[in-house]
Amino acid sequence: MISYKLVMPEDLNHYGFLFGGKMLMWIDEIAWIAVSDEFPGFNFVTVGMSEVTFKKSVLPKSVLKFDVRKKREGTTSVTYHVDVFRRHFEESEEEHVFHTDITFVRVDQDGQKKPIRETAQE
Ligand SMILES: CC(C)(COP(=O)(O)OP(=O)(O)OC[C@H]1O[C@@H](n2cnc3c(N)ncnc32)[C@H](O)[C@@H]1OP(=O)(O)O)[C@@H](O)C(=O)NCCC(=O)NCCS
Repeated sequence: MISYKLVMPEDLNHYGFLFGGKMLMWIDEIAWIAVSDEFPGFNFVTVGMSEVTFKKSVLPKSVLKFDVRKKREGTTSVTYHVDVFRRHFEESEEEHVFHTDITFVRVDQDGQKKPIRETAQE
């Protein structure tokens, strides 16, 4: 799944670059949409992200592209790999700026973990 975000002034930190927490929030939101699309009717919560290392700043006037790909399906969890690319909104050249793995766990109405395939076959 591919999704995009336009970096707005309210997304910047006090140095004028993208606030890292915004990036993580967008990844959480976009990847959650991906898992919810793949398993309609199931409830998922985020259990973890793998490596979170910011090596490249994201400048104002950037468009971010989020490339979300399923990496692993476990018993109760599903993991997606997310690559983030930036480009200036007036240019076409993309630069890879971030990557992580994000894992969701299927839960029932009480928030308890639940196997993914068990109910899928009912
Ligand atoms: C999600 C939750 C129900 C899982 O219950 P749990 O008893 O902690 O679950 P487990 O430790 O047995 O792990 C469940 C699955 O998650 C995986 N997992 C656990 N921690 C993980 C991590 N840090 N990274 C990746 N996967 C992880 C396990 O490998 C397991 O996968 P599998 O069943 O596919 O083999 C529970 O941890 C929870 O409610 N967390 C809060 C969720 C939340 O509020 N998220 C928003 C945060 S603001």
